[in-house]
Amino acid sequence: MKLSNLLVASTVIMGTYAGSPSIWFTSDKNFDGKIVKQLQKWNVAGDKVEGYYYGTQFFFSGTNEVGYYGPQPRKEGTTNHLTFSVFGYGPYSDHPNCYKSADGGPGVSCAVDFPWEYGKNYTTEVTRTAQNDDGSNRWTGTLVDGETGEKLVTIGEYWTPKNYSLLQTGGNTFDELYAIDHYRDSCMPVSSYVGFYPVQSQEDGTSFTPTLDAWDNLDLRVDACARAANESNQQGWNIPGGFVYVNGLLNLNYEGKI
Ligand SMILES: *[C@@H]1O[C@H](CO)[C@@H](O)[C@H](O)[C@H]1NC(C)=O
Ligand SMILES: *[C@@H]1O[C@H](CO)[C@@H](O)[C@H](O)[C@H]1NC(C)=O
Ligand SMILES: *[C@@H]1O[C@H](CO)[C@@H](O)[C@H](O)[C@H]1NC(C)=O
Repeated sequence: MKLSNLLVASTVIMGTYAGSPSIWFTSDKNFDGKIVKQLQKWNVAGDKVEGYYYGTQFFFSGTNEVGYYGPQPRKEGTTNHLTFSVFGYGPYSDHPNCYKSADGGPGVSCAVDFPWEYGKNYTTEVTRTAQNDDGSNRWTGTLVDGETGEKLVTIGEYWTPKNYSLLQTGGNTFDELYAIDHYRDSCMPVSSYVGFYPVQSQEDGTSFTPTLDAWDNLDLRVDACARAANESNQQGWNIPGGFVYVNGLLNLNYEGKI
């Protein structure tokens, strides 16, 4: 993950990353550096499998630093997972769900096992919840019930120093099969993610939704099914108000026959 994070961070500048399917959101640049809250509503459908990370990235304005959050499904009989991270030198945390380092490099990673349910709407929020005179900011990652708005669990909490500033508009959501090595010679598990466009808020409470989007990496052929079909087994398309990732669509035709 580490490498992909750093590369994703620089995608904004260089556009060279090739790793996981991703959908990019852009928004009014006038609000860059003024965002104190970003949230995304999501829904992971029925298939109880392990190996995917549906991560939504946010960018610290004027830097190459990023953070991200999102759900990781788990197998039947185990508890689902949520993460919330930040990269680079300077962030720190004393929250019990967090530890120093992110994907083997500098940063802070927070995670919690939580029984979020398949097929139900949730919202993950990252919010600036405190600030200090020295310009540092505290960011809290929270899982909220997508229908009632009830706060369900704090995923983690960390501080960034002044030079991280506030958040940029836009961001992206990626569909990462982090367990790809298990599936090079077989078909990736069936799993899908519905993401609604993120909502971003400024300090004065005004909020807006970035809707301009661009897809990246929808033509990867990483598992045996994709190679047999010569077509990606990780697909994504737009729906009203958001987008969907569907993994393993080709399995029906190819699994067990290749
Ligand atoms: C912030 O400052 C620290 C300490 O000087 C430095 O290590 C880090 O790279 C800086 N980060 C950013 C995003 O400017
Ligand atoms: C999830 O939210 C979407 C968008 O608001 C809504 O259309 C859908 O019915 C909700 N699904 C469930 C299972 O509540
Ligand atoms: C696989 O698909 C690509 C285009 O997506 C095409 O250029 C290539 O020729 C195809 N390969 C085979 C073996 O059909």
